[in-house]
Amino acid sequence: MPSDSLHFSGHPKLIQKIIEEISLRGPLTFARFMELALYDEGHGYYMTQAVEQDQSSRERIGWQGDFFTAPELSPIVAKTLVRQVLEIDAQLGHPSPFVFVEMGGGNGTFAADFLRHCQEIAPDFLNRLFYQLVERSPYLQSLQSSRIREAMGHWGESQLTWVSSVEHLAADSVTGVMFSNELVDAFPVHRVRLKRPDLQEIFVDYENGQFLERLGPLSSRMLQDYVDRHGVVLQEGQVSELHVAAEQWMAQVARILRRGIAITVDYGHTGCDYYASDRKDGTLICYFQHAVSTNPYIRVGAQDMTAHVNFSALAKSGSACGLLPVGFTTLANWLMGLGVEEMVEGHDHESKEVQALSQLLRPHGMGTTFKVLVQRKGIESMPLQGLRYRAFFDDVL
Ligand SMILES: C[S@@+](CC[C@H](N)C(=O)[O-])C[C@H]1O[C@@H](n2cnc3c(N)ncnc32)[C@H](O)[C@@H]1O
Repeated sequence: MPSDSLHFSGHPKLIQKIIEEISLRGPLTFARFMELALYDEGHGYYMTQAVEQDQSSRERIGWQGDFFTAPELSPIVAKTLVRQVLEIDAQLGHPSPFVFVEMGGGNGTFAADFLRHCQEIAPDFLNRLFYQLVERSPYLQSLQSSRIREAMGHWGESQLTWVSSVEHLAADSVTGVMFSNELVDAFPVHRVRLKRPDLQEIFVDYENGQFLERLGPLSSRMLQDYVDRHGVVLQEGQVSELHVAAEQWMAQVARILRRGIAITVDYGHTGCDYYASDRKDGTLICYFQHAVSTNPYIRVGAQDMTAHVNFSALAKSGSACGLLPVGFTTLANWLMGLGVEEMVEGHDHESKEVQALSQLLRPHGMGTTFKVLVQRKGIESMPLQGLRYRAFFDDVL
């Protein structure tokens, strides 16, 4: 096979591994296929650097990568979060330590900006802060570590640590904040399609040198339970996703948080919009060098794969475990509520910060696509600056 077609189809060793698993066990659920494509230890998308055809390497996230995220766009995202966290710290009575858990930190840009800003404006808080990163990819853990070191030198030898999964954090161990940006959209999803009379699952098979999709009965009882719990109703032929992994993660967050707030930022919808009949093909998309594709069977291991988040399902599964909703808004409203405009007052209109902010706040831009879900546990509901401007009625979830 010529090397450019290999580059197009994906990583040969990863493809081989997937083919072997299919021949051993039969067609894979889409969730398993996505799991291997993104998180296979040797070759998964998030587990390695991108290697170009000319053997040069680049990071996956950011302008040189395949997609950018809000914290990569501007440090103002982390700076506004510091404001919010300081308000929560005051409401929790300045605990020591204040634990900030960042889950799925990518390149470490958010962590570096967050800590640097704490050092500038809240050194006392920084002294009490314990920064816990949860990162599945060892490669990204090391990138995060070097970004933080560049920003903070030797700060935090005993105030900074990593685990690879929320499962490794002890129950009730966090008084503080549990934060993620674009983590949940990176969880493997099951894909389903309504073929009357049944809801069928999409499985991935391999035949005549290519991956293809087959429909079959739901692979586990958990999926039917998800459908029943969240009132998933599709139209004939409609494809969508079921987020079992996101629910399991939410339960873990509830288990770990003793007193404090969970802040989840991601693109997504309420359940009602998620399964709306005009969303015929679901929300799964792939990113490669800032181009969007709907084909997950090309560039396997070399392109990002992501599904929008069902925030109603997250809120509902959180509530079932004692993690109660405080509010839900758009990222733009969240940033405005935290005073982002005043943070750039006096800056040149052409400056990077103002340009990035206009990109975040423009109508139909990231600021409206992205939502912020805030939940609490072990504390009374509190007014939060980030939720000053609610974009929706409180019962929208
Ligand atoms: C789309 S990236 C977002 C990166 C970063 N938050 C940002 O905004 O730039 C998803 C991140 O979540 C991590 N991740 C995915 N699943 C995870 C899991 N189960 N536990 C911890 N980290 C996970 C990925 O390795 C990656 O760092």
